[in-house]
Amino acid sequence: MKSDKKRLNALQIGELIAEKPIIQGGMGVGVSRSSLAGAVAAEGGVGIISTAQIGYDEDGFEHNPAECNRIAIRKHIARAKEIANGNGLVGVNIMVALKHYKEHVQEAVSAGADVIISGAGLPMNLPELIGKSSVKIAPIVSSRRATQLILKMWAHRYGRTADFIVVEGPKAGGHLGFSREQLADMENLDYDAEIKDIISCKKIYEEMFNTKIPVIVAGGIFDRQDIDHVIELGADGVQIASRFVATAECDASDAYKQAYIDAGKEDIQIIQSPVGMPGRALRNDFIKNLEVARKSVKKCYNCLEKCDPRTVPYCITKALIDAVKGDIKNGLIFCGENVDRIRKMTTVHDLMEELC
Ligand SMILES: Cc1cc2nc3c(=O)[nH]c(=O)nc-3n(C[C@H](O)[C@H](O)[C@H](O)COP(=O)(O)O)c2cc1C
Repeated sequence: MKSDKKRLNALQIGELIAEKPIIQGGMGVGVSRSSLAGAVAAEGGVGIISTAQIGYDEDGFEHNPAECNRIAIRKHIARAKEIANGNGLVGVNIMVALKHYKEHVQEAVSAGADVIISGAGLPMNLPELIGKSSVKIAPIVSSRRATQLILKMWAHRYGRTADFIVVEGPKAGGHLGFSREQLADMENLDYDAEIKDIISCKKIYEEMFNTKIPVIVAGGIFDRQDIDHVIELGADGVQIASRFVATAECDASDAYKQAYIDAGKEDIQIIQSPVGMPGRALRNDFIKNLEVARKSVKKCYNCLEKCDPRTVPYCITKALIDAVKGDIKNGLIFCGENVDRIRKMTTVHDLMEELC
């Protein structure tokens, strides 16, 4: 039978081209490293490694996490590129909220990342940190206001603009650029209108710099219908994270992947993160226990720029490492709003085929 689906256009970012306009979203801690990102790139997409505590399983991490993370950034970029074998693109996701943000950017640039995607804060000085490198850079934004702020600042201070923009909506996993009130009333949030507004905002900068700024929409993208919908709105591609967790290649433990497969709608909860933003996660014992008492922090990994171990409800590094290793009761498992629709394990190849 002939498929009536149109082929998706390739994603062009400056001189770089990904045959499939699908970015696999960065997932920390340790959920998207070289195995997943390399497999996505091998399929012609854009594989993204999260640098957040990426070296959690390197020897000596407990004593020197910063150095282990630096080593692991280099190692995983090289390994992902090897797996990709010249296909697709390999990049990193670096959170602005990290204490070692600058070092992660510099390491990713020198290790040869194709792209850097940066959110969980406004990446105001990212152009300065990449220096003269040709790495492609993208802010993650959730509103026209944030888009305007970043693009205006980059134009004014650095005489440049974004190479692409990731627009992350309220259904995404991990940290969210929305208030709890907005998230509690998602039905009344006309996010399609916001996406269109962001697209009209970036057009000003496309004209100013005589360049194209692809817009990538993220958050709750589940199937081809969702992809077609945002492309109709004017997007050039999508960023998908949750769906890539239940794949053979995902870097998380099998227990973590199974937690995704077993999750129902009732298991999804908005939580407060020590990063200072709300986040979406699976409601497990870890979250239930936090409702009764905070989990005192026994050791600080120095991961966030703004975190006071004496007052935060829990240590986010420990909670995310516990989860990725397979302690799904006592760890923090971030997930997207559509996690309940994931019913079985698959492979990156089959998922990319299904989506494209
Ligand atoms: C387990 C998990 C971890 C994530 N970690 C990060 C992260 O470290 N940095 C970041 O910018 N976004 C992070 N995200 C957000 C994703 O990159 C992505 O934009 C979002 O989840 C897309 O929505 P979807 O999961 O519904 O596809 C994470 C998402 C998940 C599910």
